[in-house]
Amino acid sequence: MRTPIMAGNWKMYKTAREATDTVRSLGEQVAGVTGVEVVVCPPFTALPSAVAAASGSRIAVGAQDCYWEKEGAYTGEISVAMLAELGCRYVIVGHSERRQYFGETDATVDKKIGAVLHQGLTCIGCLGETLQERESGQTFAVLERQVRGGFARHLSASHLVIAYEPVWAIGTGKTATPAQAQEAHAFLRGLVKEVAGPGVASAIRILYGGSVKPDNIAALMAQPDVDGGLVGGASLEAGSFAKIVAGAAQTRKT
Ligand code: PGA
Repeated sequence: MRTPIMAGNWKMYKTAREATDTVRSLGEQVAGVTGVEVVVCPPFTALPSAVAAASGSRIAVGAQDCYWEKEGAYTGEISVAMLAELGCRYVIVGHSERRQYFGETDATVDKKIGAVLHQGLTCIGCLGETLQERESGQTFAVLERQVRGGFARHLSASHLVIAYEPVWAIGTGKTATPAQAQEAHAFLRGLVKEVAGPGVASAIRILYGGSVKPDNIAALMAQPDVDGGLVGGASLEAGSFAKIVAGAAQTRKT
């Protein structure tokens, strides 16, 4: 049984005060929703206030990135132990914006996933192809390279979640069609089966990300291999994210 996850990736939006307001409002709006894990991932500076505002609600808080060492002379970096102490329960790793603008590679994704899992937090590891890769027929080859290079060693960990985010769909309003999402998710699940076996493949949750909105979530969640969403723009406003959460509830997959 795979419980859906709806995770909001707030990117570099919201101060601590703004995060408090949004989390409080979201908490009220999703209070009655069952059967879905609701996660918000604010910037590092807003994590303590988001955790405080989420207390007593069904919202969990996650970070958008981390460093893999526990501590040390790594100016500007944040360790998973530091995040755990704040009350974070999830960490996003390998988002395409980190790969594109901050030099993240499959090798660094591998180390970060390992660090998050070692600390006992849930890791949402991201992958996905660019438009040029899709148009030149390389989608599956790219996904396979990313899984084998960044995820393969960790697949049997029950706290690992995969987020398939086609780069061309992120922040563009161009959502993958439900069929395109299903095709990629089925490919990824097949690959997990090959690498880690059928038990892991049927248990691992694979989220879709890229222009998820209240009006397209139901069709995406209706796909057999889509187990939730990683939502950017539409998660910034509590009302819109609450609608997406409601759209994902009760769609548990076996
Ligand atoms: P988007 O972002 O929903 O704004 O397309 C998704 C993401 O980057 O995780």
